[in-house]
Amino acid sequence: MTSPHPLSCSTGPTARPAPSPASPTALLGLPSRGPHGSRSAMTCAFRCGNACDQPIPNVSGNEEFHTVAERAMARRQVLRGGVAAAAVGVLAFSSAAPAAAGPRHPRPRPGPVARAGAGTWSFTPVPPNRADEVSVPDGFTTDLLIAWGDPVTRDAARFDVRRQSAAAARTQFGYNNDYVGLVPHPRRKDRALLVVNHEYTDEPLMFPSGTHTPQQVLEVAIASHGMSVVEVQRGRLPGQWSVVRPRSARHNRRLHDRTVFEMTGPAAGDARLRTSGDPSGRRVLGTFNNCAGGTTPWGTVLSGEENFNQYFDASGELDPRHAASYARYGITGAGRGWSAVDRRFDLSVEPHEPYRFGWVVEVDPTDPTSRPRKHTMLGRFKHEGANVTIADSGHVVAYMGDDERGDYLYRFTSRSTYDPRPSARARRHNLTLLTEGTLWVARLDGDGPDDGVHDGTGEWIRLADDRRSYVPGMSVAEVLIDTRLAADQVSPTRMDRPEDVEVNPVNGRVYAALTNNSNRGTRNPPDEANPVSSSYVRAALGAPLTRASGNRNGYVLELEPGRGGHTGTTFAWNLMLVCGDPQAPETWFAGFPKQLVSPISCPDNVAFDAVGNLWISTDGNALGSNDGLFRVPVDGSRRGLVEQFLTVPLGAETCGPFIAPDQQSVLVAVQHPGEVDGATFESPASTWPHTHTFPRPGVVVVRRA
Ligand code: FEO
Ligand code: CA
Ligand code: CA
Repeated sequence: MTSPHPLSCSTGPTARPAPSPASPTALLGLPSRGPHGSRSAMTCAFRCGNACDQPIPNVSGNEEFHTVAERAMARRQVLRGGVAAAAVGVLAFSSAAPAAAGPRHPRPRPGPVARAGAGTWSFTPVPPNRADEVSVPDGFTTDLLIAWGDPVTRDAARFDVRRQSAAAARTQFGYNNDYVGLVPHPRRKDRALLVVNHEYTDEPLMFPSGTHTPQQVLEVAIASHGMSVVEVQRGRLPGQWSVVRPRSARHNRRLHDRTVFEMTGPAAGDARLRTSGDPSGRRVLGTFNNCAGGTTPWGTVLSGEENFNQYFDASGELDPRHAASYARYGITGAGRGWSAVDRRFDLSVEPHEPYRFGWVVEVDPTDPTSRPRKHTMLGRFKHEGANVTIADSGHVVAYMGDDERGDYLYRFTSRSTYDPRPSARARRHNLTLLTEGTLWVARLDGDGPDDGVHDGTGEWIRLADDRRSYVPGMSVAEVLIDTRLAADQVSPTRMDRPEDVEVNPVNGRVYAALTNNSNRGTRNPPDEANPVSSSYVRAALGAPLTRASGNRNGYVLELEPGRGGHTGTTFAWNLMLVCGDPQAPETWFAGFPKQLVSPISCPDNVAFDAVGNLWISTDGNALGSNDGLFRVPVDGSRRGLVEQFLTVPLGAETCGPFIAPDQQSVLVAVQHPGEVDGATFESPASTWPHTHTFPRPGVVVVRRA
């Protein structure tokens, strides 16, 4: 066996020395440096393979946004002279306003008539805290719905933390739940189908010391990834849900490392997707590091394969033909040791295997016999997730972020249109919508900082459709497989870790979480769309720069589609939120009085309620509090009023969230409770949900008490 110790983590191409298997602390193999922001070294190692310690993979030399903004300012001088004003008149907020006006914001719009439910819940915001609980406002209560180890399949093994096996893990609720979707049950109104991602594993918190061999630890860890489909049933009280016993739940399903996924779209079957185990290049075993996702109007769930790169061992002798692609995707380390139990993760053995990950997965939870699919037409990168809307034209549009410092925002538009009829034939058609269409990447132009607002215009740049590539020198399949390299050639805007991107169903605007970038201001110059806090604008206004500590608290970007709506090529943008401590001068809450808002840091996932309020979950709060879930109106007089609805336990991040369609409950996934440096199974930093002496990631339902 040439691979490093199964649990050794790598911060570079050299494998770490093998730690003793007897000690979970030694098994950590954590980097010696301190964490980034408030993130523990454990999080950095296990979540994304220490991505922040690696060189930024984007070495395209693309223009950084500050240069673009300067050019935009020059153009604005021309516009002031009345030339070409009509060319930008389609954009709703920025150029349409008088150029010399003061700070501008999107036009307030009256919200729809409020309905009872999560959108209009009145609550006293939860203050920042470090409790080992899910803390909710007075008048609300939480129910644990399901947690790591609970049975999923009819033949599920009883959870025994001291005697875990991969076979058992494939029947149980996996580790580190992230995306939460709730799809209508095909036959029963009192039930729904819960679909959850299992993003990654925290081995030091999962295994009691000395109970499992390194090989067993690896096998269980791999099998604890994937997705779960679980039938849930309404309770007697409004908003109450409980899981149906697997014996009575024929839709329950675990998707894991042995599940076959079918590749679709123009790159399916391409030579670079073929391996010795799959000469067809069309059938992939497993889905890994599934982060966020989305639910489609036709009742399926999309899931993004994110930091897949960390599972591949690139320490052996590699075929140099793959070097550029591997480097652009951060496939550079010795991996997590998975190659010790499955040789397909050893790139010297299977150089094509990583091309089979980094896709958007579509699962049909209503058909437990259906084969889940990976859609090549939506491109390959570190997919945070994908959220679908139906454009006025009937075409399907999916918005997507590539979660890496300095990487891009993307969009897919379908070739065919959505069929809303409730027939089986319509559904069969809708299931093909993500296989043909066009892939786009975003460029953002600032309108200059002298208006005191981070805003401007942008355009979608076409990369490829299912018949033709628009990137010189690259075929359609090459664009889809090496999407990052293709995008590098068309000058999109480098962003600060684009995470969840979703359309507000009420006002039609698009909201993107840009979670943070500790390098902003140093290795990544600031610009109007990516300021160091607000230093870019403040410097232009003559304000002194107080710090240049990077973008530690993140932003929420708001896009308004221009002419053509969601299938058009232009948009206007603004940073609706510059997150952080409201007392810090650089923060911005869409102009709302800052003394009235909750502190918020590191936005990650976004969702909407029935009246169009934005809900934001956070990951990696750099202000010292536990992560949380926040509600923010985006229109009307309360636009920008950020209120913290809940906090998750110590060391956890808030995932999901899911605002139930009946508006009676909010579901969140509590991911990695107790993921704190130095914590082990025997000395946990959290014991949430307090069912055992160790932490268990799980999904909770919040409802009115
Ligand atoms: Fe898995 Fe981008 O967070
Ligand atoms: Ca501006
Ligand atoms: Ca995320």
